[in-house]
Amino acid sequence: MNNRFISLILILFLGTFQHSNAQSYENAKHHQCLKCHSNQTYSFYNSVKEKEEKRLMNPYFILDTVALVAGVHKQFDCTDCHSGEYATYPHQSNLKLEPLSSCLDCHGGDASFASYQFEKIEEEFKKSVHYKVYGENFTCSKCHSQHTYIATARTSSNVLEIVGYSNKMCLLCHNDMKRYKMVSGHDNPKLIQIHDWLPNEELHFSHVRCIECHTEVIDSLMVSHNILSKDKALRKCVECHSANSRLKASLYKYQNLQKRAEKDDINTVLANESYIIGSHQSPILQLLSVIIFLISLLGIIVHSIFRIIKKK
Ligand code: HEC
Ligand code: HEC
Ligand code: HEC
Ligand code: HEC
Ligand code: HEC
Ligand code: HEC
Ligand code: HEC
Repeated sequence: MNNRFISLILILFLGTFQHSNAQSYENAKHHQCLKCHSNQTYSFYNSVKEKEEKRLMNPYFILDTVALVAGVHKQFDCTDCHSGEYATYPHQSNLKLEPLSSCLDCHGGDASFASYQFEKIEEEFKKSVHYKVYGENFTCSKCHSQHTYIATARTSSNVLEIVGYSNKMCLLCHNDMKRYKMVSGHDNPKLIQIHDWLPNEELHFSHVRCIECHTEVIDSLMVSHNILSKDKALRKCVECHSANSRLKASLYKYQNLQKRAEKDDINTVLANESYIIGSHQSPILQLLSVIIFLISLLGIIVHSIFRIIKKK
């Protein structure tokens, strides 16, 4: 009882501590911008009418502050990437024309990020359907928000979390009519209908990354970025549902997941969050089924012999 009370206090204390830590961080660095860009409404001084006014914020310009302080670029000020002139409101209209840095502008040729292979990713991305159709208008940021990105597959060892994070990037468009239409000019095909040949679609979409079926696995890159056209998408069940599942060469080549694989043996890991038919056979059950088969065979033979004897 006493112990539980103490730990409750501790949890509450740590909770508030963490919270105020995140808050003070935001306050210090982004306060000016987030005053407006983290809320559904914003206020400003209208110098023509000479009074304070309140308006609705464009929902696509509202940033998720929790995801922001978790993202890989959390150390940045807003104005490290955006013009310092955004400090004034109304923002000047020419700021809309400001070019923003791409991932490669900062990460290209930088040895400290070599393990991510940014150049190779770009090369692969340029072969993808998205780049082929939309060219430079389809930037890396269409999938990876520079505000909130985390390399989840490297840092997490929870398969469901990794799959969820990864698929959210695709669903951001493929499940959002407005965003999809902004890029393509036409309605998005309904994902549920397109994939209705897949049994238990919901289960698959939460346990398998879209890229597992829509890219070619290549050994030299952690995440293949070449999204193939739909006629080259993977349909064969055994590619995954077999002892040497292709998932071992894609998702499960990450070290954080492999470490668990060494400890538990890869089959248990696959079985842990994503059940792979075929890699799951138990030797005892196999032996048992052979024995049952032999007994039934024996039964049939004995039965036939007796029938033959009786006929005679
Ligand atoms: C007084 C509220 C307010 C403040 C403070 C504010 N903004 Fe904005 N911002 C807006 C609104 C409203 C828009 C929507 C477009 C418009 O009205 O100009 C916007 C639009 C933007 C856009 C999108 C421009 C476009 O059309 O693509 C960016 C980027 C931006 N703000 C960055 C910032 C940054 C960086 C800061 C801090 C240095 C900041 N804003 C501070 C209200 C604000
Ligand atoms: C690491 C660079 C980087 C930092 C730091 C950054 N931004 Fe951005 N921001 C971008 C890029 C790139 C885009 C354009 C996204 C696109 O092309 O879809 C953008 C777009 C925006 C937009 C337009 C809406 C959108 O999502 O397209 C707003 C508003 C905005 N940023 C506000 C902010 C505020 C406020 C901060 C500080 C909390 C901030 N940004 C910090 C790179 C950055
Ligand atoms: C304005 C320059 C800039 C842009 C644009 C930018 N980054 Fe970064 N990024 C950095 C810097 C600097 C760091 C290191 C931050 C730190 O150590 O706190 C970083 C860190 C990272 C990390 C974490 C690396 C690690 O191992 O800790 C990843 C992953 C990453 N960026 C991916 C991206 C992606 C993907 C894009 C494009 C969507 C992008 N970055 C755009 C400058 C940038
Ligand atoms: C069509 C969507 C899409 C586009 C466009 C895209 N990516 Fe990715 N990217 C993904 C997905 C999905 C992942 C895997 C999920 C994850 O990071 O956990 C990923 C992973 C990454 C990683 C982490 C790889 C690792 O080793 O862990 C980096 C770095 C990256 N992308 C950079 C880029 C760069 C640079 C571009 C532009 C040249 C780009 N991406 C364009 C979808 C995309
Ligand atoms: C088990 C493999 C598999 C998974 C997982 C999967 N797909 Fe597919 N997808 C396919 C196949 C096969 C087709 C081709 C269907 C056809 O042409 O009839 C396809 C077609 C598509 C198309 C083409 C639509 C059209 O007709 O224009 C899109 C877009 C798409 N998938 C997006 C996604 C997204 C986003 C995800 C993740 C949420 C996903 N897929 C997950 C196998 C898969
Ligand atoms: C910014 C929006 C956006 C994002 C994010 C996005 N897509 Fe797409 N995607 C599109 C559009 C638009 C098309 C239609 C291209 C065309 O007109 O042929 C498309 C087409 C496709 C196709 C069908 C190609 C064909 O042959 O018709 C597949 C498959 C696909 N995307 C998969 C993905 C996957 C997987 C992801 C995540 C890794 C993803 N997309 C992320 C907008 C997006
Ligand atoms: C990209 C890899 C992949 C492909 C391709 C694939 N699956 Fe799956 N499938 C999975 C994963 C991962 C699960 C997760 C099961 C779990 O965790 O319960 C799954 C689950 C299932 C389940 C549910 C098993 C259960 O435990 O309830 C069935 C049934 C299934 N798949 C059948 C199919 C069939 C039939 C096809 C071909 C039309 C197919 N799958 C294609 C990866 C795949």
